[in-house]
Amino acid sequence: MIGRLNHVAIATKNLQAAASVYRDTLGAKVSPAVPQPEHGVTTVFVELPNTKIELLEPLGDNSPIAKFLEKNPSGGMHHVCYEVDDIYAARDKLKAAGATITGSGEPRTGAHGKPVIFLHPKDFVGTLVELEQA
Ligand code: CO
Repeated sequence: MIGRLNHVAIATKNLQAAASVYRDTLGAKVSPAVPQPEHGVTTVFVELPNTKIELLEPLGDNSPIAKFLEKNPSGGMHHVCYEVDDIYAARDKLKAAGATITGSGEPRTGAHGKPVIFLHPKDFVGTLVELEQA
């Protein structure tokens, strides 16, 4: 069902410092910071030859990554995103298999303007999983 790894998301309290690690220390191609108020994060995209890394910093009150950073003050891997062909088919299949879809359970528009759902970490080896209709 799942296809390509679309991105790995890493949460940080200091986006500029994280971007500098990827740009200056690791020598990757790094985008400017993009505030995404509707998602409660500011993002920097790191372009790798085979996938992307998304660096996430909380934006505003009630950021969805605020709690994660309370538990992981130095930052850390927040979620992985896999591509699927049909987000509704994937959602229905996973629901039937007993997986927990976070939030309302309905696909919503993600940070790339494409429909996404998030799967609760308890069902996926302790890792928050985002599925994106590619
Ligand atoms: Co993501």
